[in-house]
Amino acid sequence: MIPSVLPTYSRAPLHFVKGEGSWLIEEDGRRFLDLGSGIAVAALGHAHPAIVQALTDQAQKLWHVSNLYEIPQQQALADRLVAATFADTVFFTNSGTESMELGVKMARKYHYERGEPDRVEIITFSGAFHGRSSAAIAAVGTEKMVKGFGPLLPGFVQVPWGDMEALEAAVSERTAAILIEPVQGEGGINVAPDTVLKKLRALCDESGALLMADEIQSGMGRTGRLFAHEWAGVAPDIMLVAKGIGGGFPLGAVLATGAAASGMTAGTHGSTYGGNPLGCAVGLAVVEAITAPGFLEEVRRKGALFRQKLEGLVAGNPEVFEEVRGTGFMLGLKCRPANGDVVKAGYEEQLITVPAADNVIRLLPALTLGDDEIAEAADRLDRVAKRVAGHG
Ligand SMILES: Cc1ncc(COP(=O)(O)O)c(C=O)c1O
Repeated sequence: MIPSVLPTYSRAPLHFVKGEGSWLIEEDGRRFLDLGSGIAVAALGHAHPAIVQALTDQAQKLWHVSNLYEIPQQQALADRLVAATFADTVFFTNSGTESMELGVKMARKYHYERGEPDRVEIITFSGAFHGRSSAAIAAVGTEKMVKGFGPLLPGFVQVPWGDMEALEAAVSERTAAILIEPVQGEGGINVAPDTVLKKLRALCDESGALLMADEIQSGMGRTGRLFAHEWAGVAPDIMLVAKGIGGGFPLGAVLATGAAASGMTAGTHGSTYGGNPLGCAVGLAVVEAITAPGFLEEVRRKGALFRQKLEGLVAGNPEVFEEVRGTGFMLGLKCRPANGDVVKAGYEEQLITVPAADNVIRLLPALTLGDDEIAEAADRLDRVAKRVAGHG
């Protein structure tokens, strides 16, 4: 008999009932150090007072009105994001997948309105992950993602990650956009070098294609800048955001330049819930915290400290860990034994990590993780390694 919850996930038998900062408390009272943040979502940790306050204040006033009316919280959050980024305009969604959907529509509509209706192709990279909708699985195209779900949405071309020659060859007069995660998350924490992002920007400028950054996982301070593309000193035309922006409340956004968004006029897109007062009140509190003076400097400092400890961990456990990947608080450990076994051993040490492709475990802690918690995380990871290696 099929379970009452559709069994699309194989879940760990853990029942968390409470969260406090970087800690998750299990039903049985055990405290787990959370280096997963609900897959890069709880950017300020669990139950951060500022976002609890924002949510409860708003919950007592007004939850939902729909986008038929102006929503002051949405306006305030959009203004804040526009002020802090390359973007001129924002559309709010409820998830990363929805941001991806709008990104694809926006890029195609831009070229359509400019009299180039055949410019529909979106170039993506191997190892990418953009969500689970029909467009998002077509964008990735791997058998695992698409098998049985055809016919697929046409118009996606995939090139190997980092293969600049293949990329140049793929760009044509049919290219609407190049879509890249500046740091691949699900793909195994692969950082696109600054030179690659610069090259992508140049290719887009030369060809008239739009550059679309999927910062759903890498954005909102995770790499130590508000958005990861900022490290390369180039800006996209369209950016997909979700996860961290809601700190745990389902919220996403598409940010774009005025030019890239110019095709999206009244009636061309919508969402019943997107940008509702509750989500935007929380989003505003999250953005205020992350852009507060000194916050991102701290993420950079703590990210470097954690990385240094992880390098030591790898050196001390070469039979379990092959290398450290990533930047800021978007880190990964490439494993020698199956990464799933390492994640499971973590549960025994009351430590939460998240598996990714390429046999990597991801470390995506709250951006508020403290120095003592970094030391504790490194100790627990060392115990996990010993356990996996069989002498723990
Ligand atoms: C880079 C990236 N894009 C898109 C998505 C899809 O987001 P969501 O699960 O919120 O729909 C994810 C989720 O893991 C992601 O990491």
